[in-house]
Amino acid sequence: MSRERLILAVESSCDESAVALVRDGGEVLAERIASQSDLHAATGGVIPEVAAREHHRWVPKLIGEVMAEAATLGVANEIDAVAVTTGPGLIGSLLVGAGFASAWAWGRGLPVVPTNHLEGHFRAAWLRSAGASGASAPTLPAIGLIVSGGHTLLVRVDTDGRTERLGGTIDDAAGEAFDKIARLLGLPYPGGAALSTLAAGAVRGGELPGGLRRLPMAQTDGEYDLSFSGVKTAAARMALAAIGEPAASPGRAAALAATLRDHPVPAAAAAAIAAAAQDAIIAALVSRVDRALAATPSASLVVGGGVAANVPLREALGALAARHGRTLNVPPVRWCTDNAAMIGAAAHAALREGRAQLQDPARGVSVAASWQFGAGAPV
Ligand code: KG4
Ligand code: ZN
Repeated sequence: MSRERLILAVESSCDESAVALVRDGGEVLAERIASQSDLHAATGGVIPEVAAREHHRWVPKLIGEVMAEAATLGVANEIDAVAVTTGPGLIGSLLVGAGFASAWAWGRGLPVVPTNHLEGHFRAAWLRSAGASGASAPTLPAIGLIVSGGHTLLVRVDTDGRTERLGGTIDDAAGEAFDKIARLLGLPYPGGAALSTLAAGAVRGGELPGGLRRLPMAQTDGEYDLSFSGVKTAAARMALAAIGEPAASPGRAAALAATLRDHPVPAAAAAAIAAAAQDAIIAALVSRVDRALAATPSASLVVGGGVAANVPLREALGALAARHGRTLNVPPVRWCTDNAAMIGAAAHAALREGRAQLQDPARGVSVAASWQFGAGAPV
């Protein structure tokens, strides 16, 4: 039963509404994603109420579209369970997804599987297109690096799925750092990919605005912990130096934003700042993963989350894994950012490993803004 399980998965934890049909914890038979990022670009970030309202508009529509495809594939009546993200995330957004998913499951007499969004990002590396072989699926134990807009986390996942949290950011998430620095440089939200493109055009090796050659790495108490707020402050200082305001304080966000709106950083300096910031973020992530791989000789490396779409980061982690004689498992870009297929994969793994149960949707599904990777579902 578990090998053949067909799961309809729903994701709505932040600003993507997504629905997917996943077989066997990995094979994606159908999927739809509606991103709200254009809407949130206008406000420079996600407004929770707006996000929840958009999920209300999109989740039922996407379920309908995926089910139409399931009917075409002849599998509409073979669905075993409905997986839905119930945390961590924005409460209103989670409630909309959990509400629709459980109501839809109840109507069909199907059980629900409350699923952790972070475990979804980890399990995205197990996904494959319909018909593709699962032969190159990652192996456990694994060191998992989750790098997204809301989270930056390093875990060790054992063969039975049990998880130990090794460390994570003590302030901003890696994606949040990318987004905030992108904003300083006049790029629209979410700015991670645009910042990376800007960095690719930088002239390397010169002095940075303000005089540094590279950014120092933040020190943290925990061996595997990370800190990105210093990179953001350093980027702000460089931006101010680049527009001839080196003495201005980078501390007051509103004043800083106004200054940089009125006096945008010149293109060459913006590219240099983008490259220095990206290098610093990547170096910090690589150093912690390096320690984790050294401490766990048999583990593979699994990376997920929106920032895992970053090409220089993928290259740096690939080189690191090779140095340790390990395999880097990172999903294609469409499964790095938020999607529902990863939720189907995570639900399948949690059921198989006995960490999740099939639930009766009539009993209600709880959601939680915080839910640690590997911990039991919120009740
Ligand atoms: O996983 P995700 O879609 O949503 C969360 O769960 O947060 O991650 C979104 C984050 C954003 O911060 C975005 O700027 C970042 O991933 N991101 C990137 C790239 N593509 C997306 N950051 C750096 N380089 C990229 N190519
Ligand atoms: Zn995410």
